[in-house]
Amino acid sequence: MKGLILAGGCGRRLRPLTYTGAKQLIPVANKPIIFYGIEALVKAGIDELGIVIGETAKEIHDAVGNGEKWNIRITYIPQQAPLGLAHAIKISKEFLGDEPFIMYLGDNILKEGIEDFVHQFEKNKPNALILLTKVPNPQEFGVAVLDESGAVKQLIEKPKEPPSNLALVGVYLFDPEVFTAIENIKPSWRNELEITDAIQWLLDNRFSVESHMVKGWWKDTGKPDDIIEANLLVLEGIESVNNGRQKDSEINGRVRTEKGAVIERSIVRGPVIIGKNAKIIGSYIGPFSSIGDNTVIENSEIENSVIMEGAQIRNVEKRIDRSIVGKNVVISVTTKSPRTHKFILGDQSYVQIIK
Ligand code: DAU
Repeated sequence: MKGLILAGGCGRRLRPLTYTGAKQLIPVANKPIIFYGIEALVKAGIDELGIVIGETAKEIHDAVGNGEKWNIRITYIPQQAPLGLAHAIKISKEFLGDEPFIMYLGDNILKEGIEDFVHQFEKNKPNALILLTKVPNPQEFGVAVLDESGAVKQLIEKPKEPPSNLALVGVYLFDPEVFTAIENIKPSWRNELEITDAIQWLLDNRFSVESHMVKGWWKDTGKPDDIIEANLLVLEGIESVNNGRQKDSEINGRVRTEKGAVIERSIVRGPVIIGKNAKIIGSYIGPFSSIGDNTVIENSEIENSVIMEGAQIRNVEKRIDRSIVGKNVVISVTTKSPRTHKFILGDQSYVQIIK
């Protein structure tokens, strides 16, 4: 079976981070989000993968490469605009051929693998298999309605008044009938060919659509808080590994330090990951923090945050909490007069200063 990862789109809700980078490459526990999807597919036995790319094609290509890292073959499929998940499948027809395939949204992370899901598809051979989970905010997702027997009855994309709390998770299995469905649907109000409409067409035309409930957590990393949450969930499962150097420091809990990382006169409370050549000096790094490669954290306190590679944080007196700091960002507090704030912030940056 082939795999298809969708990594187009423009990540509007993650600006300003996505002005300079693809949303699928934002790091969670120091690893690009899309790598979690690739690894889940590889684990389920996929060795031929198509990746749909848009505006950020070059970056995705540079980060992911040709598949050598995972010993698989990767084909890139350019999409001229983010015209919907079903549109992405439509333009991948030549790559996918006449075989069943698995589609994985490049901004989704699941704790458990997808093997059970693939086995169910291979055993029962439905035309489509969707993955579902209960959520507190179904209006933000595709929503499924099941009948009394548990069979899928209806699917609606981001309904204002959700008829159930069952969200569609971004992993789907299809046989080639999905191409017929896509030929028969029209773009939605947001001008996208919706995959939920294609699956609804299958249901309406008596094709078989099965569902599978997700075990373990799932995150769609569409918004900044989702990134922080996904980072927390992934770090919950890390193991202690120490490849760095420590001096006069206190390290508790599960902490992973990469090669060249230096921790001096600091307290680190896991779960925490500290990237290659990072320097933590006179600081506190608290639970659920991911500190990227080549960062410098000096005389500062950080907790529940994602600090990306090359960032420098110096002398910030108050604790930085639930924050995302992009690549090469500098945050520093000086004692020089006049006591002014100096900001050089990109469009849609967010700064909160508490007096
Ligand atoms: O995450 C699960 C949800 O994903 C489902 O519950 C929804 O039913 C489904 O429509 C989808 O909703 P989102 O609004 O979260 O989709 P998003 O636009 O974020 O796109 C998901 C991924 O697919 C993302 O990596 C970008 C990529 N994409 C998206 C579009 C619209 C493409 O590659 N091409 C596209 O045309």
